Amino acid sequence: GTMGAAGATGLAVGAAGGAVGHAVLGDGSGTTGPALATVGSTRVPFRGAHQAGILQPLQARGHLVAFDLAPGAGRKEAVALMRRWSTAAELLMAGEPVGPSDGGIARDAGPCSLTVTFGFGRSFFDRTGLVARRPQELEPLPAFSSDRLDPKRSDGDLWVQIGADDALVAFHALRTVQREAGAAVRVRWQMNGFNRSLGATARPMTARNLMGQVDGTGNPKPTDPGFDRHVFVAAGGAQPWMTGGSYAVVRRIRMLLDDWDALPLKHQEAVIGRRKSDGAPLTGGTETTEPDLDKLGPDGKPVIPADAHARISAPEQNGGATMLRRPFSFHDGIGPDGTPDAGLLFVCWQADPTRAFVPVQRKLDRGDALSAFIRHEASALFAVPGGPADGEYVGQRLLE
Ligand code: HEM
Repeated sequence: GTMGAAGATGLAVGAAGGAVGHAVLGDGSGTTGPALATVGSTRVPFRGAHQAGILQPLQARGHLVAFDLAPGAGRKEAVALMRRWSTAAELLMAGEPVGPSDGGIARDAGPCSLTVTFGFGRSFFDRTGLVARRPQELEPLPAFSSDRLDPKRSDGDLWVQIGADDALVAFHALRTVQREAGAAVRVRWQMNGFNRSLGATARPMTARNLMGQVDGTGNPKPTDPGFDRHVFVAAGGAQPWMTGGSYAVVRRIRMLLDDWDALPLKHQEAVIGRRKSDGAPLTGGTETTEPDLDKLGPDGKPVIPADAHARISAPEQNGGATMLRRPFSFHDGIGPDGTPDAGLLFVCWQADPTRAFVPVQRKLDRGDALSAFIRHEASALFAVPGGPADGEYVGQRLLE
């Protein structure tokens, strides 16, 4: 499927890199030289059982934007908005311009794996008179003792997640979404993120975060038994419009990078319970070897410490609680205290946050060795409906 295609793309870009540089430098018009049938050409379908932007590989660029309905706007305006946004998203993901006022930012570029994903926050249902269709799963997340949340950068009526393997393509999608929003909504907050570029590594590899750790190893795979049940809402639930949908928890997690970088490697590895070099568990093997959580060292203590992040968050330690983590890194310059305002735009997907993110974060909050090096600064929870069928707009089964 798409994942395999993107993996192959990564290889092709790495191999073609030198030749590409020559072609562009030598001509200037960009119209001659070998074809760049690589990063640009990957297209993700807009329609299907699930919205795009959940199962696709991490993209190099991301924009997360929350909107609030404007004063006076309600269900009617929301319907018109979701129609406009869906039409725009389908064109954007196909690499097509959107209407006569398209600014042309993405001209010449292919779709670049663009995904545009839409979600509804708890307050949306109050604003649109749809409280009876509000899922129980949108109950506000509990407060955690380590939270340092900024309400202005949290929550929101609507959410748009944009991801693409090119910065201009992602920005173009963001501009288009903002333009098509018209007077119906106001931006509440926006966060910009990034991941490693396709082709940066010699072969497809798990991402690294800004702490330098291999991050994503333990993620469930679509081929795992129970994957769909963990990530997507099954048919026959209390809110039929959410069938095929998922709940996204978004946390802006600042990394205290100066403190982290000052920590000796051995301590850094003990904090996670995995080797920094290749992500292998401290009990040995390779990245994909199962950690041996019971193994004791010569000192009689567990080799993977009791407070190691990867031990505490593991599904086996949390009654099977399973989520799909699909984050972006962020860097918003240097803060007033002189340290980098950088970290993880943590996005995780699950069929029910009260059985995935919430219990795991509760446990991390009580005793995660990583807590001393991170700070949760913003939080949001969105209901992301299933993908649109032919002729439908996103959210139609909720709104009509
Ligand atoms: C695993 C880093 C926040 C849940 C990991 C791993 C790393 C990591 C390096 C091991 C490799 C892997 O399996 O991906 C971080 C960093 C965070 C963070 C740097 C904050 C900046 C969180 C949060 C949650 C979470 C907030 C959920 C509440 C998990 C889970 C695993 C994991 C479920 C996989 C455990 C397993 O399958 O064995 N994390 N994490 N992480 N983390 Fe985090």
